[in-house]
Amino acid sequence: MTNSYEKIMKRTEWFREDRFGMFIHWGLYAIPGRGEWVKTTERMTNEEYSQYFDAFNPVDYDPKAWAKAAKAAGMKYVVLTAKHHDGFCLFDSQYTDYKSTNTQSGRDLVREYVDAIRAEGLKVGLYFTLIDWYHQDYPKYNDLHHPMRGNEAYKDEVIDFDNYLNYMHNQVEELVTNYGKLDILWFDFSYEQMTGEKWRAEELMAMVRQHQPDVVIDNRLETSGEAFGSIVSDQPSNYSGDFFSPEQLLPPEGITNSKGQPIPWELCITMNNNWGYNPRDKDYKSSKTLIHKLVECVSKNGNMLLNVGPDAKGVINEESMAILSDFSRWMNKNSESIYGCGKSSLLPKPEWGYYTQKGNTLYAHIFDQPIGPLAVAGLKKDQIRRASMLHDGSEVKVADAWTTKAFDSVTYLELGGVSHFTYPLPDAVNTVIKIELND
Ligand code: GLC
Repeated sequence: MTNSYEKIMKRTEWFREDRFGMFIHWGLYAIPGRGEWVKTTERMTNEEYSQYFDAFNPVDYDPKAWAKAAKAAGMKYVVLTAKHHDGFCLFDSQYTDYKSTNTQSGRDLVREYVDAIRAEGLKVGLYFTLIDWYHQDYPKYNDLHHPMRGNEAYKDEVIDFDNYLNYMHNQVEELVTNYGKLDILWFDFSYEQMTGEKWRAEELMAMVRQHQPDVVIDNRLETSGEAFGSIVSDQPSNYSGDFFSPEQLLPPEGITNSKGQPIPWELCITMNNNWGYNPRDKDYKSSKTLIHKLVECVSKNGNMLLNVGPDAKGVINEESMAILSDFSRWMNKNSESIYGCGKSSLLPKPEWGYYTQKGNTLYAHIFDQPIGPLAVAGLKKDQIRRASMLHDGSEVKVADAWTTKAFDSVTYLELGGVSHFTYPLPDAVNTVIKIELND
């Protein structure tokens, strides 16, 4: 089994078309509500953390509601944390007792999730971490992140790491065989010497590909998203994954490999500053900012995976739902400028916003109110077949204003009835003009 640029591009065809997905971080850590790293930031023992296992009872868990919210927001795929670093499984693994079916909830939460997501016609993704802060055979004392790092009690502990790897591989096999066709498998993450073959990655990938040849996989068997990994090299490794996964940072330009070919990538981003539920974190980005960032990703040939962290009862909080409904409002009118779109082959980034492009159609995303008509620098008047407002289809004329005479080489588009007047943009968040080009 070898990987190649061609295979990566083939597998990610739908993924690059869809552009926008929902990340869901949810597990026992929703109860303390201090983020999904709480066990290790507060250096809790398994015993201390077990209170959350005992209390876990998400009575309002309704993945159909999550799926509906994602779909309404224009998201095309969803990725749920089947298992996070704390080791707790939202699925009915036969290899551990540390799973949702053994809590008060008694349910295989992953099963209900995949059914609900598929029922809405969305693509199904599962996040699975390579790390495990519960398993007895995961490194502790010398590990960079383990809750028991530096704890003398574990200094001379002898572990059987291969036993852990067998366990981890077995669980991945359960996920790729028991839940039907998966569209995305989102591995988290490698660090220091814990990377690649340390995970027996070659073997792991061969097993996954045997069951799910088309599943799209991220690059974190090699990185934590802070580096590209071999996906950008001449010869991607078999576990290079299919896309680069920058986290909380939007790449300044699109990503290319050593031959200059574009590499699929996906920005994963939180709404506030936590992946897991944190009721005290009120530092939400505005929906305007997030909509702009989605456009920016697409304008650089990337995707955006926007996170929600449902609460301990299984509910996506009001702040997050409000952001999703703002996406819904904007995407309902403008999603054509997102799906199947990418970087413009014609024009560089304009001063007032971004371009996205699909074939012979250019989408001008106007973030900043222009004074007078809109300058479409670099495009000649006779290249434009027709221009219209994307949200309502109304015509947009090439401006013929006395004010633009001095800038004759620049094409201007009129935003209202009088070419030299300034009109408030119909959508203050992002007004999109669809520019259809002549061949
Ligand atoms: C980081 C964090 C993890 C989170 C992930 C999402 O790697 O360790 O908690 O799930 O990012 O990309």
